[in-house]
This record gives sequence, structure tokens and C-alpha cells, in this order.
Amino acid sequence: MQTCWIVYNGSLTHDKFIDQALLLKEAADRHDIHAILVKNYEVLMNVQQRLHAKPDFVVFLDKDILLAQYLKNEGIPVFNDPNVIEICDNKARQYMMLANAGVPMPITIVAPKVYPGFSIQESGYFEQVLQVIPLPMIIKEAHGSFGMKVYLIETREQFFAKIEELAGIEYVFQQFIANSRGRDIRVNVVGGQVVACMFRESQTDFRANITNGGSASPIILTSRQMEVAIQAAEALGAEFAGVDLLFGDNEEPLVCEVNGVAHIRNIFNVTGINVGDAMIEYIQSKIGAAVV
Ligand SMILES: Nc1ncnc2c1ncn2[C@@H]1O[C@H](COP(=O)(O)OP(=O)(O)OP(=O)(O)O)[C@@H](O)[C@H]1O
Ligand SMILES: [Mg+2]
Repeated sequence: MQTCWIVYNGSLTHDKFIDQALLLKEAADRHDIHAILVKNYEVLMNVQQRLHAKPDFVVFLDKDILLAQYLKNEGIPVFNDPNVIEICDNKARQYMMLANAGVPMPITIVAPKVYPGFSIQESGYFEQVLQVIPLPMIIKEAHGSFGMKVYLIETREQFFAKIEELAGIEYVFQQFIANSRGRDIRVNVVGGQVVACMFRESQTDFRANITNGGSASPIILTSRQMEVAIQAAEALGAEFAGVDLLFGDNEEPLVCEVNGVAHIRNIFNVTGINVGDAMIEYIQSKIGAAVV
């Protein structure tokens, strides 16, 4: 019987992180794989020592990229690849890669590095940004989940206050897709195939995330939406991806972001599909199932 580790973050106390790991474990059990839930701090990353007991593979449900890399260095297949988790964890980096691959997305400008306590407000730089992306616009920190680091900026005052606040932090300026206010689509892609999707909508917030009070329902994707979601995952080399799609002009899909560690509970509640099954099947097809 094959063994896998399902690594999640032990410092996050919210139930949804362990719940996510349990959904994957259920999928692994169904495929006769002995799955062990491992908190990230349960592996001692002593860099000069080798691990004694190694699993056949690791499903990595956290953004502890150093641990993912440590496990990969031990010769263990890690899913997603640590490099993919790292790219997805930095929205500025992922937008650069998506744009290079020609993936449709909102106009996006990566903010320059400004050291904390310093300002480039007098340089004319921000006027240039405002010309390319007029208000209202989105400012989005490079690192953030559950919509917590995504801001809708409507006035010049809000704009200049936010950029001062963000000195020292990586972020992007992004065109606000007004047609998509309070609604988006989450598409889970596994191994280049769409496995599940849901429509998310909020009546109270421009962000459709369920964590911000949005609700989710089933949706049937257009072939264009499927194509764009798959293209986005491929552009980042993401074997597993949670792709968020916005509705552009004429409902044309635009990629909002790609999650390299996508949560699978909400989509299971909405669709009855445990994306974990597809993840495990994909891994088995890649590394080979156990020889009986
Ligand atoms: N450019 C945009 N135009 C319109 N709405 C946007 C835009 N960018 C983000 N949003 C809205 O804000 C929400 C959160 O944005 P995004 O997905 O980039 O952040 P996140 O915090 O990483 O979310 P997640 O919970 O998926 O990790 C999106 O689901 C979408 O509803
Ligand atoms: Mg998102």
C-alpha cells in the first residue's frame, strides 16, 4: 500500500484547514492509499540530516514553501511542485507569468519596491499609473487569501493613503472589472482538466469570496471559460489549480487569480464533487499506483 503525507499548516487554528486535509484523506482512503495528516511543524527541517521515514508522495496544502522544497530535496514527489506554490503565492509574479502566456486578465501594473518609511509620491509615478488604470481600481497585495488583501479604491484620497500604507509590501494595481462586481467563478483544474466549478456571488461586497459573505451555487461553464481556466493553470505549470474567473465585457472570461493551494470544501458542498479524488487519481497516474 502506498503512503502519502497530507501536509497542512499547524499554526492556523481555524477548522477549515484540518477539514481540507480530511477531505483529501477520504479521497486517498478510497484509492487504497494510507494517508497521514502532517502539520508543517511536525517535520524537523534539520537541513544537514536526511528524513528517515519517507512517504511515496506528499500533497501539500500549505504555503510553507521552504518545507515543500525541503521535502522535494529529499526526493519525495510533492504536489503542487514547490515552485508552483511559490509563484501562485505571489500575485505579482503570477500575473507576470499569466500575461507572458497571453492569458486574458485585467490590466495589471506591478508596483515598484518602495522601502518602508520612504515615499515616491512626488515623483509623478502614481499619476502615470492613474492614467493607465483610472479610478475606481483594485489594489491587491501580492500575498493574501480570502479577499483580505484586495482593496477597491474609489477616490484619489483612498489611492494615496493606500500606497503610503503599503510601502515595503509587494502589491499590484489592477483594472476594476465593474461588470463582475460581487460575482466570479471558481474553477478547479487538475492535470489540465476541469474537475469542478462554482459561481460565487455577494450582495454586499465587491468581492465574491465566500469568506466575505458571498454565496455559491452550481454553474455550467462555457467552453471559453473552460479554455481560459485550463490555459491559466498551464501557464503557471500548476497541476492542481483553483482558478478564479471574472466576467469581462460581453461576459468574456478574465483570470482574476490562480490559487496553487485551492480549498476544496466549499466546492464539495456546492457540487458534491470531492476534488481530492481527481488529485489522487492524477498523482497515481503520474507516479504509478502501488504494484499489488
Ligand atoms: N480586478 C478585479 N475586478 C473586479 N473584482 C475583482 C478583481 N480582483 C478581485 N476581485 C474580486 O475580489 C475577490 C478576491 O480577489 P482575489 O481572488 O484576487 O483574492 P484572494 O484573496 O487571493 O482570494 P482567494 O480567497 O480566492 O484566495 C475575487 O474573488 C473577486 O470577486
Ligand atoms: Mg481568489
